Amino acid sequence: MEKSDLRNELDKLKAISLAVIKEAGSTAELEKARVELLGRKSELALRLKGLGKLPADKRPEAGAELNAVREAVTSALDDKLSAIREKELNEKLENELFDITLPGRETGMGHGHPVVSVMDELIGIFTGLGFQVVEGPEVETDEYNFKMLNFPDDHPARDMQDTFYVQNGARLLRTHTSPVQIHAMQNIKPPFAVIAPGRVFRLDSDVTHSPVFNQLEGFYVDRDVNFGHLKGTLELFVHRLYGEDTKLRFRPSFFPFTEPSAELDISCVLCGAKGCRLCKGTGWMEILGAGMIDPNVFTSVGLNPEEWTGFAFGFGIERIAMLKYGIDDIRLLYENDPRFLRQF
Ligand code: PHE
Repeated sequence: MEKSDLRNELDKLKAISLAVIKEAGSTAELEKARVELLGRKSELALRLKGLGKLPADKRPEAGAELNAVREAVTSALDDKLSAIREKELNEKLENELFDITLPGRETGMGHGHPVVSVMDELIGIFTGLGFQVVEGPEVETDEYNFKMLNFPDDHPARDMQDTFYVQNGARLLRTHTSPVQIHAMQNIKPPFAVIAPGRVFRLDSDVTHSPVFNQLEGFYVDRDVNFGHLKGTLELFVHRLYGEDTKLRFRPSFFPFTEPSAELDISCVLCGAKGCRLCKGTGWMEILGAGMIDPNVFTSVGLNPEEWTGFAFGFGIERIAMLKYGIDDIRLLYENDPRFLRQF
């Protein structure tokens, strides 16, 4: 059957329309094409408008064919629009491409200095046992650093060789944290349990001694405190710090401000008491000084030694840190060489 004239014209119109659509390269161009092909003034619109002028018997067929063309054009426009959108998106992604697999810039996480970490750990252990933290001045008087702690006038620790005197001898840099015992007893009503961390100063310098180092003092004042309380507290502390298997040994010693006095040794943390370089073959390492607070100390702060009793202990933080991390030269702790510090 021969195609009607209308049919031929519409086939052409459809072919041209699809070609125009195919040519459009951007959404803007496609929008222009849409107006041109389907807009009010488009050939298709005009022909649809003109349907009414056709003889009635031709209208249904002509209408159906026109609609078919319009649908074909519309769907071609829609397809093209999605294709262009996808292409534009891909181009955008391509242009803004960055490689998410490249390693990021490292900011480097800092961490506490070994002395600070050990100090924090110790403070954690003792505050967990109910001790409160008290700090005292680093510049002291002879009164607080020595006299009220029952040091006799001619005690060798008072020597210029051992103590940093300042202000022509009117003041000194505290040689230990024990003067905080005096400040605390003057300021806090017993009973109390205190730890006093802080810097101390001594004229001393070699691989295990630094002129500035840190100590932690602990003391407990109450009625009926005995040596068993001291032993129990220190045992708990040593086991928390170095592990439950660590053994303790108390040796009699002397400090002017405690009576009786003792030094505490623990089984070597490196060789487990077999004997090694760290414990110099003895299997034991000295870690602190301790004792029952001397009645003369109570008297010097106006507490009645018949009523009040107490224990005290003190040790160097650097030494604890050195034992814990196996550091054999104390000066490494102060040089702040990042190659050293990064290891902890
Ligand atoms: N103050 C002493 C020292 O510097 C340590 C110590 C503190 C001893 C408390 C007994 C009681 O070595």
